[in-house]
Amino acid sequence: MTLTRRAFFRTVGPGAGAPSPAMITARGREALEGEFGSVEAGIIPPADVDEVRISSNENPLGPGPSAIQAIRDNMDQSNRYPMNSRITDRAVRARLAEQIDGASAENIVIAPGSGEILRNCVRAFTSPNRPLVTAECSYESPTRTAAYFDVPVKSVPNAADLGLDLDKMAGAAIGAGLVFLCNPNNPTGTAHSRSDINDFVRYVTKASPFTYILVDEAYHEYVTKPSYSTAADLALTHRNVLVARTFSKAYGMAGLRQGWTLATKETAAKIRAYKLTFGTNILGLAAIMGALDDPEHLKQEVDRNTEVRKYTMDFFRGHGYWVSDSQTNFMFAKTNMPAKDFREACAKHKVSVGRDFPPFEKTHARISIGTMEEMKRATEVFTEVLGLSATDAGAGSN
Ligand SMILES: Cc1ncc(COP(=O)(O)O)c(C=O)c1O
Repeated sequence: MTLTRRAFFRTVGPGAGAPSPAMITARGREALEGEFGSVEAGIIPPADVDEVRISSNENPLGPGPSAIQAIRDNMDQSNRYPMNSRITDRAVRARLAEQIDGASAENIVIAPGSGEILRNCVRAFTSPNRPLVTAECSYESPTRTAAYFDVPVKSVPNAADLGLDLDKMAGAAIGAGLVFLCNPNNPTGTAHSRSDINDFVRYVTKASPFTYILVDEAYHEYVTKPSYSTAADLALTHRNVLVARTFSKAYGMAGLRQGWTLATKETAAKIRAYKLTFGTNILGLAAIMGALDDPEHLKQEVDRNTEVRKYTMDFFRGHGYWVSDSQTNFMFAKTNMPAKDFREACAKHKVSVGRDFPPFEKTHARISIGTMEEMKRATEVFTEVLGLSATDAGAGSN
């Protein structure tokens, strides 16, 4: 079938951007698709079923109106590469840099999702002689990349509160190529204070100057812990520190694939060297510009998430379950049953929760935060699956 230009625009607009039922229910798939199985293999259900998908730490509401408007306004630029389009890669980097004291466009690399930044840091800074250091229970993508390239991995057990054990990670960092420091950490949701990160960077930079430190701040916007703040200024002043950010979470653009890293110009150039030529989607660039024009929308999203996160954490605590201190749009609950059993039992009620997270896969489940309506439905299902009574909630366990 040939789609004329007019028919194309009729199809995508002006209704484009209103989330279809399929779009709404399609949340939660990326964690499993491609990496852990596929729809075809029956491991994850197809997208268009009525299901609460709280499995992949997505924003349940999608991009804000100004981001969607910017996409519409730039559809006609789809024939252009990102250096020739109305909104260029460079213009977006300059705009992002305006948000960070002392940064310029050269300090920033935009990528199709921060996942590419993580992968390229492993490629650029590790080798069979220079290991990757990560936490045992953290975002696994750098570990997977290391495996492709035969890079040894030092996995440091998490601390008792399931946060990163920064002292042990600092020890492991000596002689390493790269430390992956996920702050806040996925899947535990925990965040370290700015002074903890300062101490870590100071120690590692002195003891092992050629070790790079990648601070992954994918969930930065959602943090409410007062002692937390970004490591952006450290990335601008230390040639061995990089910060990674994404538009996939609080900005609701996971499918638009926009992430970025901040580093000194020299270090940013090292990551840029691995970037796929023309790898940046210009509609995603437009969406970034639109989103940055509407800080109030971001604030509303963060407030919404904070409220629903509290509701969900209170549910577990009220029933006496331990949950880690989530600073993100997901939480890690000690359900005291294998994640697989919990997941499969929830799936029977059309609630899809997170995958296994070793070494806690026998006892803990990761649950992303959906809308309040979705979490009310989900907690009813958890009540049934965990064999709780709807009325027995009392004092929490932490
Ligand atoms: C900690 C962390 N870093 C990076 C990513 C990759 O995000 P994206 O490639 O969508 O920017 C994710 C995705 O869930 C994540 O949880």
